[in-house]
Amino acid sequence: MAGTGVFAEIVDGDVYLYYTEGEWKPSSSGKNVPIINPTTMKTQYKVQACSQEEVNKIMESSKTAQKLWAKTPLWKRAELLHKAAAILKEHKAPIAECLVKEIAKPAKDAVTEVVRSGDLISYTAEEGVRTLGQGKFLVSDSFPGNERTKYCLTSKVPLGVILAIPPFNYPVNLAVSKIAPALIAGNSIVLKPPTQGAVAALHMVHCFHLAGFPKGLISCVTGKGSVIGDFLTMHPGVNCISFTGGDTGVSISNKAGMIPLQMELGGKDACIVLEDADLDLVAANIVKGGFSYSGQRCTAVKLVLIMESIADAVVKKVNAKVAKLTVGPPEDDCDITPVVTESSANFIEGLVMDAKQKGATFCQEYKREGNLIWPLFLDNVRPEMRIAWEEPFGPVLPVIRIKSVEEGIHHCNASNFGLQGCVFTKDIAKAIMISDAMESGTIQINSAPARGPDHFPFQGFKDSGIGSQGITNSIEMMVKVKSTVINLPSPSYTMG
Ligand code: G3H
Repeated sequence: MAGTGVFAEIVDGDVYLYYTEGEWKPSSSGKNVPIINPTTMKTQYKVQACSQEEVNKIMESSKTAQKLWAKTPLWKRAELLHKAAAILKEHKAPIAECLVKEIAKPAKDAVTEVVRSGDLISYTAEEGVRTLGQGKFLVSDSFPGNERTKYCLTSKVPLGVILAIPPFNYPVNLAVSKIAPALIAGNSIVLKPPTQGAVAALHMVHCFHLAGFPKGLISCVTGKGSVIGDFLTMHPGVNCISFTGGDTGVSISNKAGMIPLQMELGGKDACIVLEDADLDLVAANIVKGGFSYSGQRCTAVKLVLIMESIADAVVKKVNAKVAKLTVGPPEDDCDITPVVTESSANFIEGLVMDAKQKGATFCQEYKREGNLIWPLFLDNVRPEMRIAWEEPFGPVLPVIRIKSVEEGIHHCNASNFGLQGCVFTKDIAKAIMISDAMESGTIQINSAPARGPDHFPFQGFKDSGIGSQGITNSIEMMVKVKSTVINLPSPSYTMG
């Protein structure tokens, strides 16, 4: 059970502690932040409301720990990461329980998130051992000149203190996708988990603690965004921010200053369906891509663009599948579970009502109880509707019927987002041409958008992000290149 057994030391009474200098501590603020269970809408857990002074101390210890860690051999870093991965997987049940209670993730998906996170950590350890030892050797003529007098050796050195801010929908997996590359590359980590998902993240951090990482190398600070949010992201001790989330990322990037940023801020991933597509495959991908975890994935299918001639057939097949989705509590492993907060549910409802008022066709009855919204496929959506452009992050999926492929591409490219997209067709040449024309970080051919496999590059264009993620790219992102140039004395120097 969460907060018991090996996890007993991370909680005091009914309030979870924060992690600093290798210890679990209460905040001197004496305050805490409640975490509301999206299903019961009651307080499920409480976490510490840390103060700015505590953030300052964390930054200091993080900097000190990083200097020593940078000198730790790669094999040793990897060994500890493998150990953390094994401990995490061993304790998948209590961590998954937190995900069910905090973010209403369906029970089986919650376990999958933890297991995937362990695998991600292990892969990162192995990838880091292989790639971080590789530098470059360059030669040049003298500059200016024409004799070979310059030799350059490059290596990869850590950035320093990495601030990791994952989102509510993958509080464990999108935390370790930042933590593991940072650590293998010789950096220290300050983790600020999302409020919903913080307790799962604290359990995950404890697995790193049990693995035996040095004190101060990993810290986890919880609290109110209004108190420590800007303070953390603008802190002079931070050398890089890796953020996944919503609009807050824009304000972080405006305030962060001259440090590397890795950002993923959501998307409006469109699915373009051509006449020759396998319609059963299309329907299966639209439903899985649009409705898994109730549409609360940045890579969820968020818009379907179908050629008019096949639209009726696709809508019929999708509706048949939507009718089979189970709706209810995450403990019962339902397909559709309550969305994360009441304000999210209200936002989704606002998009639905706007579409209704402007004439969209509801393929199912709109139904909501608390944070639980029944799956809804909206046909005949038009560009003047908000849902044609905005990201619901809920189980609500709009369809626009298109007359040409160009119309579909034009709509996608007019969006502020550019995370992923997908195209369904048997004509591979056409699919590649569409991929080339779409202004998105990734285009999937004949499959719904997805971040994984976790070593694939993952990046957003336009307002969807900065930088590229995925295991290899994240490791590269969390180092800087250092050059040492050997200069021979002079072109006239002789060996004799
Ligand atoms: O929510 C954002 C995630 O990066 C999506 O990951 O495609 O594995 O669900 P996923």
